[in-house]
Amino acid sequence: MRIGILTGGGDAPGLNIAVYTLTKLLERKHEVYAIFHGWRGILDKEVRRVTSKDLIDFAFTGGTFIRTSRTNPFKDEARVETFARNLKELGLDVIVAIGGDDTLSAAAQTQARGLANVVGIPKTIDNDVYGTDYTIGFDTAVNEAIRVTESFKTTLISHERIGIVEVMGREAGWIALFTGLATMADFVLIPERPVNWDVVANRVKEVYRDRGWALVVVSEGIKEYGGPRDEFGHSRLGGVGNELAQYIEKITGFETRAVVPGHIIRGVAPTAFDRVLAVRFATETHSLIEDGDFSKMVAYRNGDIVNIPITEILGKNRLVSGYWMRLYEIYWGL
Ligand code: F6P
Repeated sequence: MRIGILTGGGDAPGLNIAVYTLTKLLERKHEVYAIFHGWRGILDKEVRRVTSKDLIDFAFTGGTFIRTSRTNPFKDEARVETFARNLKELGLDVIVAIGGDDTLSAAAQTQARGLANVVGIPKTIDNDVYGTDYTIGFDTAVNEAIRVTESFKTTLISHERIGIVEVMGREAGWIALFTGLATMADFVLIPERPVNWDVVANRVKEVYRDRGWALVVVSEGIKEYGGPRDEFGHSRLGGVGNELAQYIEKITGFETRAVVPGHIIRGVAPTAFDRVLAVRFATETHSLIEDGDFSKMVAYRNGDIVNIPITEILGKNRLVSGYWMRLYEIYWGL
């Protein structure tokens, strides 16, 4: 068979390992093609035959060697026509789409319209893909966010300041929650749990008076500032950390600084967990392809690798809830 692999949406540490491992397994029997720049690679016919030898030198770095984009192949009917025509001409029997909910939803539609057989692999540092406990990239991003936060903390203590760390996370606050738990932040703000900023300022003021410094972790997704939108309708986020710092400084009267690690937590080399997760997802994807079992997304559930119908994830997000929200409430509840 001719099998195409693409990565779409924000890059995530571990993507290169997934692409490399899958290529290594598939090339024993099949022809493997890298689809460059996510779904845009089909529209531009930027598809090239690859071997594991082409990929190994980059396999263990962050980023995605085969590039990415936020192109939506189903944006309008004219585009769908080009997409369908190109898919036919390229003659790919299967497409493996590695992405978050947008990329995977496009994969589900590709299958539903009978344009190609697909298998999906969930990745995003946000960890918000429905149906899987972990996505490729989350563990690495959290570890890096913790490293940055701990180093910020030492200077907060020295200078006796209040500090805000703004981390990525669009709809879901997983990165902020895990960073907050792992560094025992004094307050954490996540999109799933709106909080009045006066409450945060007063809580932080008490901590500061008692100890001489305080730490807050905030998810960028708690506030949108408008600006350009991508083809899936998402606006660019970022900036709430600075706004919150100014607010807290005004209410408390104590010097407050914000840091925004931004894309830095996304670009580092993958942790052991993400490396092994990428390998396990690639292995499951390979067996699905060998079995001719398409229209599936591989997933991590309670330590096991499973697969679910890709249509199950449509229109859903995995948000902080249940046990994790209870944990949030224990430390930062009102
Ligand atoms: O979707 C993952 C994500 O990392 C979000 O947390 C963030 O808002 C977005 O990507 C930023 O992506 P970009 O690289 O387009 O700035």
